[in-house]
Amino acid sequence: MKLFDVYPLFSITPVKGEGCWLWDDQGTKYLDLYGGHAPISIGHAHPHYVDMISNQVARLGFYSNSVQNPLQLELAEKLGKISGYEDYTLFLCNSGAEANENALKLASFENGRKKIISFSKGFHGRTSLAVAITDNPKIVAPVNETDNALILPFNDEEALEKAFQEHEICAVIVEGIQGIAGIYEASESFVKKIRSLCDANNAIFISDSVQCGYGRSGKFFSTDYYDVKADIYTMAKAMANGFPIGGVLISPRFKPWHGELGTTFGGSHLACAAAIAVLDVYEKENCIENAAKVGAYTIEKLKQVQGVKDVRGKGLIIGLELENDSAPIRNKLLNEYKIFTGSSSCKKTIRILPALNISTAEIDLFIDALTKCLNDK
Ligand SMILES: Cc1ncc(COP(=O)(O)O)c(C=O)c1O
Repeated sequence: MKLFDVYPLFSITPVKGEGCWLWDDQGTKYLDLYGGHAPISIGHAHPHYVDMISNQVARLGFYSNSVQNPLQLELAEKLGKISGYEDYTLFLCNSGAEANENALKLASFENGRKKIISFSKGFHGRTSLAVAITDNPKIVAPVNETDNALILPFNDEEALEKAFQEHEICAVIVEGIQGIAGIYEASESFVKKIRSLCDANNAIFISDSVQCGYGRSGKFFSTDYYDVKADIYTMAKAMANGFPIGGVLISPRFKPWHGELGTTFGGSHLACAAAIAVLDVYEKENCIENAAKVGAYTIEKLKQVQGVKDVRGKGLIIGLELENDSAPIRNKLLNEYKIFTGSSSCKKTIRILPALNISTAEIDLFIDALTKCLNDK
């Protein structure tokens, strides 16, 4: 049987990882500044992560959500403490799209409405409603199309106000920092406007924190910089360092009922062990503080590199925009300097999304290579 061919592939076969480094099947070593679309949060094969997963799978990898699972309670407790959202509750699922799908469903159950506001160039996943509110017609199948989606220009407060005047809005979903788009921040006043319009109109504010959340921005959620709280946060990528998991953080205004949401695999013993290991490492290695510190260092350094036109982002979710299409530079970084970086839908922008415990020495290797790549015509 062949694979259903939907992914363009690099001709590289990684077989081993350690921290921010990868090795391919030829023994070549790569600096990984991308973490496979951002899930790698504590580095590849972190010893504590390996121990926790190995011990758990040897005892009990999975049982369903119809029995007591103390690991879920431990994960929720730790997450509440580290995030500072102790009064919110946690629903566990398997991916970012599924987290968003559940968040939208919760919002609609709560106020009985249907219309969802999302924003241009945003990305929320590929399941039915998540993809319908994603601004990319190429990935929306006819069956996904819905009148319930209202996709507005990003950071446009006037358009947002007008939409609230003209429609009965169920929810607004926004990435605090748009990831795939090329790292664009929702402005402080835009985030505050979403909050106030949702409050005034009994609509639900959903923060899609799948990529920019979980400490990557240098705070647990990127909107924490503005002291604004969403009603629901969705999370996934960094949660279990690459093990499939998704999470929905739900404010106390929502009262659950049995059967309202559900999943077979979500919150399995093995997924919880992986996610607990990540939070243990966050605590022990001060990963969120490191993301803020090393991120600020990286952004400062990048601004000094000749040929870099713009640097965007916070912490370790960084977009660097070049004068022209970035693909040749990304390929050169990969093939000549053995450094993985990420693309974005803005063709000129390279995305940097490394593990949160990366060092400044590792960043220096990248800055050096990028400087050479850009100078070397
Ligand atoms: C902001 C955002 N939301 C949702 C998703 C979908 O997550 P998943 O691929 O885990 O379904 C992504 C994935 O890139 C994302 O970046």
